[in-house]
Amino acid sequence: MGDLGVLPDHLAPHTAAVDALGELIIGGMRVSELVRQYGSPLFIYDEDHLRTRMREATEGFGGGRVIYASKAFPSVAMARLISEEGLWWDAASQGELEAGLRGGVQPKRVILHGNNKSFDELRMAIDAKVGRIVVDSFDEIDRLDYLGGSASVWLRITPGIEAHTHAYVRTGQQDSKFGFNLANGDAHRAIARVKASSHLMLSGLHCHIGSQVFALGSFRDAIDVMVTLAKDEDVEELCIGGGFGVGYLRDERVPTIGEWTSWLREAFVAHGMRDQQTFIEPGRAIVAAAAVTVYTVGVIKEIPGVRTYVAVDGGMSDNPRPVLYGSGYEAFTSSRLFDPHDMTVALVGKHCESGDVLVREARLPTDLQVGELVMTPVTGAYGYAMGSNYNKLPRPAVVLVGHGQARLIARRETIDDLFRLEVDG
Ligand code: LLP
Repeated sequence: MGDLGVLPDHLAPHTAAVDALGELIIGGMRVSELVRQYGSPLFIYDEDHLRTRMREATEGFGGGRVIYASKAFPSVAMARLISEEGLWWDAASQGELEAGLRGGVQPKRVILHGNNKSFDELRMAIDAKVGRIVVDSFDEIDRLDYLGGSASVWLRITPGIEAHTHAYVRTGQQDSKFGFNLANGDAHRAIARVKASSHLMLSGLHCHIGSQVFALGSFRDAIDVMVTLAKDEDVEELCIGGGFGVGYLRDERVPTIGEWTSWLREAFVAHGMRDQQTFIEPGRAIVAAAAVTVYTVGVIKEIPGVRTYVAVDGGMSDNPRPVLYGSGYEAFTSSRLFDPHDMTVALVGKHCESGDVLVREARLPTDLQVGELVMTPVTGAYGYAMGSNYNKLPRPAVVLVGHGQARLIARRETIDDLFRLEVDG
């Protein structure tokens, strides 16, 4: 990696390097050159980083299966990498399912999630012969009975584990819209119903306790509960979901995906589970640190004694996480990483909302100029995926870089694209 100047190694994509002048290079490509070619703002994904995280995850998890939770970044290009690296694909909608299939993921390695799957989604999954359908409710069992096709299913269980994370992304507790409640007997009733079905095959149980979870103990607790249930009910497979936390901030050191997966494997093995029976579903831990978003500074507004605002050409439409969850990010200039970053500013977007703040207390060079490139690292998960066209802003382009080459994997939206759904547009 070499000396990255003020950019901490743990926030940088795997192939990040900084040239003698302080400019960031990813996948052998200068960031300023990528912006010149593909415009700003720009998402830059490091292919080597993605592949390395996938390999670390599968190696750490032994012979268990790693299913990529595609919601974190559900692109066809990503599906290609997933299929090449032998991972499975978790889809939570028809669109995510389609992305996986278009990217060449074998249907038997696709699992379909969702707390309210439509008839169309279920029909598409049955027709495509996806590997597993993760059944979430009694109404869904009714729908599957009505459709009548054969399918291998997991039941999503709410195990009653309180994961310590943001309330919006906490899912394992009793009071949840997801899954069959264990404590009130719904889980056992659902298991009995599927076992009695002539067309559904109960191959496993699933739970997901939340996202951006840091406590290994929460996962261990979930494994304890779920293994007991699987043994009692004589069910073969167990998926413990995803949610392995990643670091976004300079002082935030968290376990690597290799560590997460090997610890989880140990916990499964301690319960006598064989590798072939076990599954995990990481999204963020694979893609988050693989990407940076690069913006161009348009306005620097200093209010003496109050605050300096640095406004860039994107914002909450390409990264809604700060607004939604109060998530923290760091910011750096991408062209002079050897210069001190000691001016504290609010890095804001161009949307018509005061809440459109990307980084509340960003540290940037004191002589920052309009027109310079500023980047936020660790934006590969739930950024582009949750982006919007708020204020009719076109979505940024996305490039995948590696070995001195860049490949455009999502082109920048045009103004015409913004009107493609409007009937008289
Ligand atoms: N499996 C299931 C069933 C899930 O619902 C999720 C995430 C995952 C796996 C993957 O979780 P991960 O490993 O990526 O943490 N938009 C939020 C995150 C929502 C996660 C929803 N489900 C955020 O930006 O933080």
